[in-house]
Amino acid sequence: MVIRKALVTGGAGFIGSHIVDALLAQNIPVVIYDNFSTGRQEYLPKPAPGINVVRGDVLDLVRLGEAMAGCDFVFHWQANADVRGGKSNTRIDLEQNTLATWNVLEAMRSRICFRRQRPTRLRKPPFMARANSREKQ
Ligand SMILES: NC(=O)c1ccc[n+]([C@@H]2O[C@H](COP(=O)([O-])OP(=O)(O)OC[C@H]3O[C@@H](n4cnc5c(N)ncnc54)[C@H](O)[C@@H]3O)[C@@H](O)[C@H]2O)c1
Repeated sequence: MVIRKALVTGGAGFIGSHIVDALLAQNIPVVIYDNFSTGRQEYLPKPAPGINVVRGDVLDLVRLGEAMAGCDFVFHWQANADVRGGKSNTRIDLEQNTLATWNVLEAMRSRICFRRQRPTRLRKPPFMARANSREKQ
């Protein structure tokens, strides 16, 4: 798989920053998209060509879409990782996990899936192929 340029949501967070490091180690240009609510400046790589840090909220669909320009791959690691806190404030998980993920998919749908390539016919999932071959035996 060839990745030309990747966007990492939550790229300043614990997991996302490791994904960023792994991509940079393969010389893949990266856009780090984060609102720094729990992300840390010290998790970021040193400024260098091929690294673009965008301070933005994933709920901001326009900014997110703009940040995705030129990317062909998205690693979505933004989240409200405070699972226990969701018990007292249930709206946070709805907004920061469910709606946030929907926003990322929407931005990808408009920016990556349909702008950069024509939709292709889905191939048969492998399990279907196996099921068919078993039927034939
Ligand atoms: N840390 C772990 O050990 C671990 C293990 C397994 C799975 N996970 C999962 O990985 C995901 C990330 O966890 P983490 O530990 O890296 O959390 P984290 O809090 O360190 O990272 C989340 C990042 O998302 C950013 N962010 C949050 N809301 C945002 C928003 N609305 N817009 C833009 N950026 C926003 C934060 O600033 C932060 O940088 C979570 O879904 C978590 O459940 C984490």
